[in-house]
Amino acid sequence: MISQNTIQQILSRIDIVEIVGGFIKLKKRGANYLGLCPFHGEKTPSFTVSPSKEIYKCFGCGRSGNTISFLMEHEKYSYVEALRWLANKYNVEIEETETSPEYKQQQQIADSLYIINSFAQKYFSDNIFNNEEGQAVGMSYLKERGFREETIKKFQLGYCLEERDAFAQQAIKNQFNTELLVKSGLVVQRDDRLIDNYRGRIIFPIHNTTGKIIGFGARIIKSNDRAPKYINTPENEIYIKSKILYGSYLARQAIDKNDECLLVEGYTDVISLHQAGIENVVASGGTSLTPDQLRLIKKYTNNLTIVYDGDAAGVKAAMRGLDLALEEGLNVKLVLIPDNEDPDSYVNKVGAATFAEFVKNNKKDVVIFQLEVALKDAGGDSIKKSAVVNQVAETISKINKAEDFTKQQDYIKQCAELLKIEETGLNALVNKFIRERISKQEAKLPADEGLYQEQSTGQTVTRVEDESFTLLFKDELQERAMVRSLIEFGLQQWDDNRRVADYIFEENVEHEMIDNKNLLRVIETYKTWYDAGLEPTSKNFLYHDDLQLSTLVVSLMDMSHELSPNWKDHYDGKIFTREELYKEEVFSSLNYLKLRKIKRLIDTNQKDMDKPHSNDEQLMMLQTHKALKDMEMELTKQMGTVIFR
Ligand code: GTP
Ligand code: MN
Repeated sequence: MISQNTIQQILSRIDIVEIVGGFIKLKKRGANYLGLCPFHGEKTPSFTVSPSKEIYKCFGCGRSGNTISFLMEHEKYSYVEALRWLANKYNVEIEETETSPEYKQQQQIADSLYIINSFAQKYFSDNIFNNEEGQAVGMSYLKERGFREETIKKFQLGYCLEERDAFAQQAIKNQFNTELLVKSGLVVQRDDRLIDNYRGRIIFPIHNTTGKIIGFGARIIKSNDRAPKYINTPENEIYIKSKILYGSYLARQAIDKNDECLLVEGYTDVISLHQAGIENVVASGGTSLTPDQLRLIKKYTNNLTIVYDGDAAGVKAAMRGLDLALEEGLNVKLVLIPDNEDPDSYVNKVGAATFAEFVKNNKKDVVIFQLEVALKDAGGDSIKKSAVVNQVAETISKINKAEDFTKQQDYIKQCAELLKIEETGLNALVNKFIRERISKQEAKLPADEGLYQEQSTGQTVTRVEDESFTLLFKDELQERAMVRSLIEFGLQQWDDNRRVADYIFEENVEHEMIDNKNLLRVIETYKTWYDAGLEPTSKNFLYHDDLQLSTLVVSLMDMSHELSPNWKDHYDGKIFTREELYKEEVFSSLNYLKLRKIKRLIDTNQKDMDKPHSNDEQLMMLQTHKALKDMEMELTKQMGTVIFR
């Protein structure tokens, strides 16, 4: 864990303009900086960076955040990776805090598992080369499949004897811990005995990117068995399926060199291609790609070529990872192996040169491919066809990185042609999907209610139009204005004795004035800090551990009113900046909320009055009604007349 001290040092050195400007071109515009948004395609810049507030905000797509969230989004770093990156940039030495006992224990388990796996690999390999059964069954099977000895050695393939516990006994003899052996998946416990789990199977060790063995795939040799073809290591401290790409250790240099990664389904596909001299290849294990796996690929290249068998299942599996891959900014191509072959059998059949040639000449753009398949499916059915249009627009909308803008435009052009529709129409549809997705992401933040609520109509989610939106959510906008005032101006003087925050809390703003739970949480957090004698600023919120809170605060920060420092030189009359008018802003947003509260009280009281009551009760309610009405009038009057300067 990175120490709090280090984190503070890093945060204090952050210069958002420098960091963001390192990735996209920014131009000074007034107090802010402006550039083309890296998160959605645009031709006129609406991506704004505020150095004073240390945030960015795109007025086109609505995305906003701080330096760290920028690195997390743009570079796909984790929070800790972003911190490490910044520490490196600013030469901040990273101080690690004491690791927790649980973490230490996990590390110990992981280390032991690596040792057990390495021991097992050597043992299983030894069987292949030196054991009679190993040679007769294991080696001859591999040879029959066309694997050469050097390949078997390179991939450290092995064989597990058919005996009940040949490996288990060796492991016990070497004093490995029973519990850990079970955890490794190499053995299973049956009544007090340890039984080999991979009996009579070929062993494929699976390495992580640094070459350590994290687990195994074990393939059955005899067919006609009811047992599964492959057994894999169960998930444990080091075998985490969603992060594994088989072959990544041996492929990484070739991927880098070729600037392309081939993705196949199986272990044997990887091995056969290697043997044929095609080394930039990894296997997914036949399941659709996970974000972690895609990120792993992206570390080496942006070009992913999926090489699957042409059967329906293979294609379907390939398609499932498509949107995710596009989101990661990968260029995805698809090659389908013909004649019911898989890459392994095909390369063995036609040879390395023909195979490589085939891959080179049969790369299909995966978006176009998907569209062609869908169009063929839809035939003349216009309803189906319109679904296809939506689907392809959504897929294209997933390409939302700056460097991919031309790619997105190319796709729009090509797909519009294939669909025989207007390019501008498709373009608009794509943009709609981008906007929708972004507002959906934001909607996740202010929880379930309020400003970003969506109206669901059947399957498609449509957003309320912007204008009706403002009207509908006026209340929430006022709540947001209140919270924004507190954060931005809370520490300024209200009058001789009080600061703005004192005034706001005296008016009990945290009691029944704010409906939105997350906004309320911001106020409460502020109050806790303030009451404890701290001076909360927007920065305290910007880098708050709670990402939900910090994102909400960022979304509250308003940069549109900031004026250029030079503005005044060109203008003779007096311009009041938002900062200068803060009292008015605080006063009016607070009064709006007070007024709303009073109106609600009047309403409830009114409803009560409609029910039958005793005369005394009735009288009291009438008095309440009058008192509330007076307050309402007073507030309305104040709002119309009070001017602060
Ligand atoms: P061969 O049949 O020996 O050529 O293996 P293959 O790699 O071609 O296998 P296949 O194409 O049938 O499956 C592709 C990948 O899916 C395999 O490499 C495994 O990773 C995985 N797989 C296939 N069958 C099973 C199974 O029964 N269980 C598990 N867990 N994974 C499997
Ligand atoms: Mn195969």
